[in-house]
Amino acid sequence: MVSRVIPVDDFDLVIFGATGDLARRKILPGLYRRFRDGQMPPEARIIGAARTSQDADAFRAFVRGAIEEFTPPDKQDGDSLTAFLARLSYVAIDARGTEGWSDLAATMRPKVIQAFYFSVAPALFGDLAERLHGHNIARSDARIVVEKPFGHDLATAKALNATLAAHFDESQIYRIDHYLGKETVQNLMAIRFANILFEPLWNAQYVDHVQITVAEQVGVGGRGAYYDKSGAMRDMVQNHLMQLLCLTAMEPPSHFDPDAVRDEKLKVIRALDPVRPEDIVRGQYKAGEKTAAYLTDVEDAKSRTESFVAMKVHIANWRWNGTPFYLRTGKRMRARMSEIVIHFKEPPHSIFDEDAGTKPNVLSIRLQPDEGIDLSVTIKEPGPGGMRLVDVPLDMTFAEALGADAADVPDAYERLIMDVIRGNQTLFMRGDEVEAAWRWTDPIIEGWQGRNDRPVPYEAFSSGPEDALMLLHRDGRRWREVG
Ligand code: BG6
Repeated sequence: MVSRVIPVDDFDLVIFGATGDLARRKILPGLYRRFRDGQMPPEARIIGAARTSQDADAFRAFVRGAIEEFTPPDKQDGDSLTAFLARLSYVAIDARGTEGWSDLAATMRPKVIQAFYFSVAPALFGDLAERLHGHNIARSDARIVVEKPFGHDLATAKALNATLAAHFDESQIYRIDHYLGKETVQNLMAIRFANILFEPLWNAQYVDHVQITVAEQVGVGGRGAYYDKSGAMRDMVQNHLMQLLCLTAMEPPSHFDPDAVRDEKLKVIRALDPVRPEDIVRGQYKAGEKTAAYLTDVEDAKSRTESFVAMKVHIANWRWNGTPFYLRTGKRMRARMSEIVIHFKEPPHSIFDEDAGTKPNVLSIRLQPDEGIDLSVTIKEPGPGGMRLVDVPLDMTFAEALGADAADVPDAYERLIMDVIRGNQTLFMRGDEVEAAWRWTDPIIEGWQGRNDRPVPYEAFSSGPEDALMLLHRDGRRWREVG
């Protein structure tokens, strides 16, 4: 298969917070890979902006280090790295003061696409936006990119939206949820809407339940201070799992265009029933053999923040009435595994003996690792012995089915940044979507606070607390194994 890299138009991309962790790990190495693949036009420019007072050469040395550390060796080479670094410049800037702004204004070129990546604390969004306008830097067609956390609750998300809206039109704002940039997440839309096979069955009549799992092996590591104020609910469910839920449950949009898709996702969020306290399990990981407990990681022995959450969610609409969606995410779980699994119902009437052993079909969409799709189907076990049924997987691991092209998919950030330059907002969250997600999340968190709810401890590198298993057992179902 031929890999099709379509170059984007010429651009100036300013990264505020260019010396920060996200820029170092994701944004800059991602841009390099797009450059090396020939997707970035040779004249495009990346302007680092941060408080650190340094010159362009020092910034280039920093970027070289970041690329060497975060790009696989077979995806880097000296020539393209030198050419990429030549596209970089640097402006020392004070987001809350005056220093550096006229330098930045002088650096920007007219006519080419303008994008400003706010890779800084949300408290600075307003200052940056004001100065970009005050110094006449941002044109009316400039794009700005902002990261999660987009607010801490509904009130703060609304305030952030209002701050941005004071300076930019919604069509200029790109709110990143990097899960939307993952290859398989987009594939979910292709599977649902480019095949006739699944859509007729994609409803409460044929789907028994859906499981969405995002399990990680890592702990909260050095991010304890941030994480302890968020917890799994704010850090993962309100955004990443919510987006997976929306794409799984939404109605077919009329077109694959940004607002058509986002309108449908918004309808799903608005149709979510409040979650009953008994339908949620929260957990905190214990110490492992060589790993610290959550409470040690966040240095607060009394913390009541969850590092794991599992819940049963209902979508109150015609399509999904009566079909539960079980969501679960946690740190320090047995394996790193993200998947969406559709458990279909049994055929309405079985013509086979009960002991023939029939099992319902299961469609699993794996986001990571080994991106792919797997459909279990029941067939006759080969050989003599009468009609004995057995489940076999129709497995399509993309790397096996599509070869190098699949193994070579761009990382979520690479894809999303290129979408910003292309001006395509489909894989970005709209302001009303983010607010609707908080509107649903807030009462859950307030409920925990009101009841002084404590997360239950769970073994490190396990599938989470026992109670989470019970959440499904109680309904006569079971989670897929993590791992
Ligand atoms: C981030 C969360 O948004 O997503 C992290 O803040 C989490 O806590 C990460 O580890 C998971 O992303 P991925 O792409 O590694 O699954």
